[in-house]
Amino acid sequence: MSDQQLFPVPAGFLRPQTVDAAGLKAQHDLVATDENAHWRTLGEALDWIEPFTKIKDVSFNRDDFRIRWYYDGKLNVSQNCIDRHLKDRGDQVAFIFEGDDPSTSYSVTYNRLAAEVNKRANLMKQYGVKKGDRVTIYMPMVPEAAYFMLACTRIGAVHSVVFGGFSPDSLAGRILDCKSEFVVTTHEGVRGGKKIPLKANTDLALLQCPDVKHVFVVADICDVMLKHGDRDINIACVLDEMSAECPAEPMGAEDPLFILYTSGSTGKPKGVLHTTGGYLVWAAYTFKTVFDYQAGDVFWCTADVGWVTGHSYVVYGPLANGATSLIFEGVPNYPTVSRFWEVIDKHQVNIFYTAPTAIRALMREGDEPVKKTSRASLRVLGSVGEPINPEAWLWYYNVVGDGRCPIVDTWWQTETGGHLITPVAGATPLKPGSASYALPGVKPVIVDAEGKLLSGATEGNLCIADSWPGQMRSIYGDHARFIETYFSTYPGKYFTGDGVKRDEDGYYWITGRVDDVLNVSGHRIGTAEVESALVAHETVAEAAVVGFPHDIKGQGIWCFVTLVKGVEPTEELKVTLRNWVRREIGPIASPDVIQWAPGLPKTRSGKIMRRILRKIAEGQPEALGDISTLADPSVVADLIKGANLKI
Ligand code: WT7
Repeated sequence: MSDQQLFPVPAGFLRPQTVDAAGLKAQHDLVATDENAHWRTLGEALDWIEPFTKIKDVSFNRDDFRIRWYYDGKLNVSQNCIDRHLKDRGDQVAFIFEGDDPSTSYSVTYNRLAAEVNKRANLMKQYGVKKGDRVTIYMPMVPEAAYFMLACTRIGAVHSVVFGGFSPDSLAGRILDCKSEFVVTTHEGVRGGKKIPLKANTDLALLQCPDVKHVFVVADICDVMLKHGDRDINIACVLDEMSAECPAEPMGAEDPLFILYTSGSTGKPKGVLHTTGGYLVWAAYTFKTVFDYQAGDVFWCTADVGWVTGHSYVVYGPLANGATSLIFEGVPNYPTVSRFWEVIDKHQVNIFYTAPTAIRALMREGDEPVKKTSRASLRVLGSVGEPINPEAWLWYYNVVGDGRCPIVDTWWQTETGGHLITPVAGATPLKPGSASYALPGVKPVIVDAEGKLLSGATEGNLCIADSWPGQMRSIYGDHARFIETYFSTYPGKYFTGDGVKRDEDGYYWITGRVDDVLNVSGHRIGTAEVESALVAHETVAEAAVVGFPHDIKGQGIWCFVTLVKGVEPTEELKVTLRNWVRREIGPIASPDVIQWAPGLPKTRSGKIMRRILRKIAEGQPEALGDISTLADPSVVADLIKGANLKI
């Protein structure tokens, strides 16, 4: 692995950097001698209403489990993201909005952002939203989503953003789980020219959520719309009456900031809970350091605010640094496959952050759609969401970045709040496909299946031995599940769920999930969720879902389905079941392959042996291994035969 090509910092890379190689080494050295001094410096980059004196109080042991950071300090997130910039750069652009339709774009200055956020904070207050209340935000990628997120932080409400691509059922589940009494949505979203009926979906979802008191409906004009009595508030009818001033609620560093649902290996999605101080410290630090953010840079992260990447690197990280962040409503291939590169030229984007699945899809279109654009403004490229294959990395580097821009391949998770293992732009020599090293203060360790620490060049399960400020603090409403899920597989360590290799140079290479979580186009999907959606259909007796390598999506979804006795296994039924899953969960969970399975490989105690199914889906029936423990080994031959039949 160490013979992988090493890319030094490109010669033309702008200097001085925010953190150069020497600066990065100095941070690592400081951590080694006085860790708290490093954490203190990071904490002091924020404005505190009451400064912290305590820095870190952590134990990953079950008996005295605790994670607290900067815990006697008080601060407000919106104040850090907005107010503190007004004196020097109130007229600077905070958000650039680029609509799905290329003729729509506008800018929002920090001054305007302050007014928009405060008005919405006052509006929510007037309708009863209080500190600690959960507010569900179900919105497209438009600045209004960020306004409401920031407005929540202004008054100490806890937002739960639900991706606009999720179904009414998924939305309802998330509203119910965190007992959210308020929802923010809009009539519809538009992506790639297609409309998404968010308000209609919300109305459907709320049939299951009797406790929701108000729906704030984002609209430009105060006119008739789908209304449910006094429940719905068209914000255009009331916003003008709201004051553009709203006091920022002083929040304890460990007060909840937001909940974000993500898929696990079992059961329903977990409400990952992040708290105020540590999360913002980590989002702010990683944004500035990893991307080499410099004052005046235009930063574009293509992720939706429905995912953690959108939280940390569309909204909180950039704004905490007073940056200009681009919000893009659309998709990479609409109206043409040059869209990304055209937007980069149009808005003179300096730092561009996207996902391998998008890079691979665009790579497929050849170099010409890229080369016909300038991209001269670009300085740093980023990748996130799944391992980037070296071929896509090289294309991104050579064609998109013209060999001038370092690529930061950032490994992290919803749970980690921000980057943990990643190059620092301009400071770390790069290996295509490797996330390189941990950031200062982050302590990755590799363990084998029994939890034994592995040293040197090795391969195993990725754990983090100690806390960092942006670590999630709990699963909303189920702290026991939090400890059980992340700290009990390898007691005393945070288990990431990822497999990893470490090479002779100490570079980390993430190999993907080792649990029953799929990564489809950078989206996390639990196999259990797809299975329960399938078995909820009247024709399905049993289902087992596994991932398989997919050229564009990284992983695809392969479903082995056993039908109820007497049901005819037709092609139409496959279409029906695919649509059913899309409706139950959302289009991101759409099955790629449905294979009829007269029987599933089970042990004598009835456990499905997914290992075998995975090998079949991966097209490696020769690598099945020992199947003698199966209750009925003959089902395997049937499945291998069936797998050749494409749907
Ligand atoms: C999982 C987390 C991190 C925000 C977006 C996804 C995979 C993420 C990388 C990367 C290899 C990566 C991991 C991780 N992953 N980034 N740079 N290289 N794998 O957040 O939905 O919480 O998913 O995404 O498997 O565990 P998420």
